[in-house]
Amino acid sequence: MLRTHTCGELRKEHADNQVVLCGWVDRIRDHKNALFIDLRDRYGITQVVVNKTDEAAHAEGRKIASEYVVKITGSVALREAGQVNSKMPTGDIEVKTTELEILNASKVLPFLPNSTDPISEEVRLEYRYIDLRRKTMQRSLMLRNRMSKIMRDYLDEKGFLDVETPILGRSTPEGARDYLVPSRVQQNMFYALPQSPQLYKQIMMIAGYDRYYQIARCFRDEDLRADRQPEFTQLDIEMSFIDAEDIIGNIDGLMQRLAKEILDIDLPIPLPRLTYDEAMRRFGHDAPDLRFGLELVDCTKLAAESGFQVFRSVAESGNFVRGIRVPNGTNLLARRRIDQLTAMVRDDYGAKGLAWVKVEESGWSGPVAKNMPEEEHARWTETMEAEVGDLLLFVADTWSVTCKALHGIRKTLGAELELYDPSEKHFSWVVDFPMFEFDADEQRWVAMHHPFTAAKDEDLEKLKSAPNEARAKAYDLVINGFEAGGGTIRIHQQDIQAHVFELLGMTPEMAKDRFGFLLEALQCGAPPHGGIALGIDRLVMLFGGFDNIRDVIAFPKTQKAMDLMTGAPGSVDQKQLQELNVALVKPQRS
Ligand code: AMO
Ligand code: AMP
Repeated sequence: MLRTHTCGELRKEHADNQVVLCGWVDRIRDHKNALFIDLRDRYGITQVVVNKTDEAAHAEGRKIASEYVVKITGSVALREAGQVNSKMPTGDIEVKTTELEILNASKVLPFLPNSTDPISEEVRLEYRYIDLRRKTMQRSLMLRNRMSKIMRDYLDEKGFLDVETPILGRSTPEGARDYLVPSRVQQNMFYALPQSPQLYKQIMMIAGYDRYYQIARCFRDEDLRADRQPEFTQLDIEMSFIDAEDIIGNIDGLMQRLAKEILDIDLPIPLPRLTYDEAMRRFGHDAPDLRFGLELVDCTKLAAESGFQVFRSVAESGNFVRGIRVPNGTNLLARRRIDQLTAMVRDDYGAKGLAWVKVEESGWSGPVAKNMPEEEHARWTETMEAEVGDLLLFVADTWSVTCKALHGIRKTLGAELELYDPSEKHFSWVVDFPMFEFDADEQRWVAMHHPFTAAKDEDLEKLKSAPNEARAKAYDLVINGFEAGGGTIRIHQQDIQAHVFELLGMTPEMAKDRFGFLLEALQCGAPPHGGIALGIDRLVMLFGGFDNIRDVIAFPKTQKAMDLMTGAPGSVDQKQLQELNVALVKPQRS
């Protein structure tokens, strides 16, 4: 070992100890009679003093600059009373240096880890090794490590077995595009990187390993957002001989433990639950942020009888008029802001407009007030439970557009009007999802979760008679408006699985080609089973109070799925392509 202690370790008790420290030069101050160096490593910062009287060390010390790597030898001294820094754990002491060795120099860097200037994310990602020296990033990676250890310990205590599953495999559909890897040995054949270990973990159940878990890397080629990465990590879990309550109960316990150990919060369990229908009705979204109100109110019945033509025609055509009451909104939101919100619902969510009403002492004002006969106003005010000073916002459209647009409004205003404490964590479950949703682009039904999901017992018949009404044994964990995890009880009967594949538009041949091994295994003693996967990156982001998933991943990718440090994805040699029997074609214009 080159060092005796880390830069975060020395305290009063170490006074007079001889120590050797190694680290990066965070800051250097050259005073007349001494150099003061803040020496940093991931454990902390220690102040090092090199007196001019220690000539050799001082001369060497004068050569160093920010981010040089140095080794110092010296003795621990208590700082004088006025010099104690109570903000630093090592602030009671300093190290009087007798020897100083430069282990390595550093170029002038594009930014310094201790800089408080804003640094563009592009530069941070290109020089990630410097970025990772920053305190927030150290906190992030250490938090991530603690959280995954707690997860492992929790599952280990409960007898779960950690099993690794392949990265090179067959496609496991989770609704995204696959990353494909050409095979050299089997020419013109491709592996798919796993979108999740879904099928392998089900096979583990059939193999009799009734409590499986894995911290699994997943790959999905999909459009990226602040909470999505093309490769990300799941805490993947599967159990046999259980029902949804067992999975939910286990995850409740895990969340309680994480909340206690990481946030020092006593999280009451069972965590609250709402059904998918209720979530869509009250919040317009299946992962609602429950830290604040601004709930959606359905006014379709009133609209059907309204003199306001826009609303009535929408209601008469079988669509919906729903609204949000913004308490004191007439004072909080200026006209210009309402116009911006109107543009947002139009441009981002395809709504035709945003109708608004100011509820004032003298009655209603705003464009709807003029268009709607006055005798209706009181009924609407009552339905919206509005008071003087409130602003009412309405969207009249299909169920789906009213959900999306009003969810967008709710989310935006919740943050803007500071309707919640940003440090609060709200945990809940959303359950009873529909089995299928209609994909308008592809003009076919797709599985809402994945095609291996079991229907609720009472809806089994509906799989045949009215699949669009069938509910799934599915549950999502929602934290502060983010889907932190999702899982289901699986289909364990071959005939039902084959039927679901068919509903999803697969011919028996296609099903056999893609999932023949599963259909076969389901006939070879498959126990009832189910599971869940939690998004570890999202959990760390939420527990750590980060806004972006990239801040909790050591080497994340950009929105364009690039690693700016290594330059991945990159081109490959012609020779490699030949070996793979792969030819490049001119890129299509997109
Ligand atoms: P699902 O697709 O819901 O379920 O994924 C589970 C959780 O993984 C996280 N997640 C992501 N995190 C970051 N970037 C992404 N691109 C991304 N995609 C998903 C989310 C999500 O809730 N096999 C099933 C689980 C099961 O049924 O057991 C599955 O993968 O937090
Ligand atoms: P108009 O009668 O088109 O002038 O619209 C009157 C008000 O209703 C305007 O504020 C529009 O933005 C709004 N509006 C029009 N269509 C809709 C709709 N489908 N949903 C909600 N508001 C609408």
